[in-house]
Amino acid sequence: MGYAKKIKMVEVGPRDGLQNEPGTVTTAAKIELIDRLGAAGVTAIEVGSFVSPKRVPQMADTSEVVAGISRLDGVRYAALTPNMQGFEAAMTAGVNEVAVFAAATEAFSQKNINCSIRESLDRFRPVCEAAQAAKIPVRGYISCVLGCPYEGGVDPKAVGGVAGTLMDMGCYEISLGDTIGVGTPADVRALIAAVAEVVAAEKLAVHFHDTYGQALANILAALEMEISVVDSAVGGLGGCPYAEGATGNVASEDVLYMLNGLGLETGIALEDLVAAGRFICGELGRPPASKVSMALSGSSAP
Ligand code: HMG
Ligand code: MG
Repeated sequence: MGYAKKIKMVEVGPRDGLQNEPGTVTTAAKIELIDRLGAAGVTAIEVGSFVSPKRVPQMADTSEVVAGISRLDGVRYAALTPNMQGFEAAMTAGVNEVAVFAAATEAFSQKNINCSIRESLDRFRPVCEAAQAAKIPVRGYISCVLGCPYEGGVDPKAVGGVAGTLMDMGCYEISLGDTIGVGTPADVRALIAAVAEVVAAEKLAVHFHDTYGQALANILAALEMEISVVDSAVGGLGGCPYAEGATGNVASEDVLYMLNGLGLETGIALEDLVAAGRFICGELGRPPASKVSMALSGSSAP
């Protein structure tokens, strides 16, 4: 199988990357990060979440973030909306895409969103209907597709079942999340083969955390199976508050470097992406968890 020629990179740094930060990240820093990402050529940016501020305090200022960004034409500014309360807040704030997020395992669903998988899908249905009426695209996530911190191994067919239901309710794309970064390329191949029987590969995205250092290899395995949408976080930021020990998302800079090397188009300028990662990591007071950014430090990016 060949690669898709164009790859969409979905930048989840401002949301997945920052949701788990122990310190305060200012609204102004989030806005500057998002604006820098847009200026670098990123066309899909997850800017925050409309979830319980008691559960995820770091995302409590998402409305202010959305109000402060300098919107660019052609850029999707998305936010997580787990229920109608979140969707309504997202519409008031003015994002132009929303995402619902389910899990492949019951235990993770309970810990993350406080309900069973079936209940979560019942909550997402009205969100999808309202979004469709408002002409707002909805992305669907599935967490723990390659392993669960509470249940261990996950059956790819179970992932396919949830993916099919999310598509049926109107999601335009399903992002497959290796929340705890345990999968290897063999697992990815088996997963995508199973899920693609239910949802076509061109409607699937991969969302890999890099806990075990497998993410780039896993993305390559996915690209070889005609996946053309890759989630990542600049500076390798990230983690899920309900998946202890899970480290950051794969670094966007590293993904882009690999895609450039493969001759695949993204429309993103590496130098500007590296600068965006260095900016937010400077705000956080630590170096970027991106090998490419580190390799380029002190030199000008190619
Ligand atoms: P619930 O606990 O079932 O509660 O919420 P509820 O609906 O009975 O409401 C309880 C309280 O939450 C109420 O406030 C509601 O107003 C409030 P109180 O009366 O106690 O003051 N509430 C909300 N507030 C703001 N926005 C809302 C909202 N809904 C209820 N939309 C809920 C369910 C999902 C909201 C909650 O469990 C929650 O916020 N969980 C956090 C989920 C989260 O953000 N997780 C991290 C993101 S997912 C992820 O990282 C994985 C991903 O990256 C893919 C991967 O890597 O696998 C996507
Ligand atoms: Mg994630």
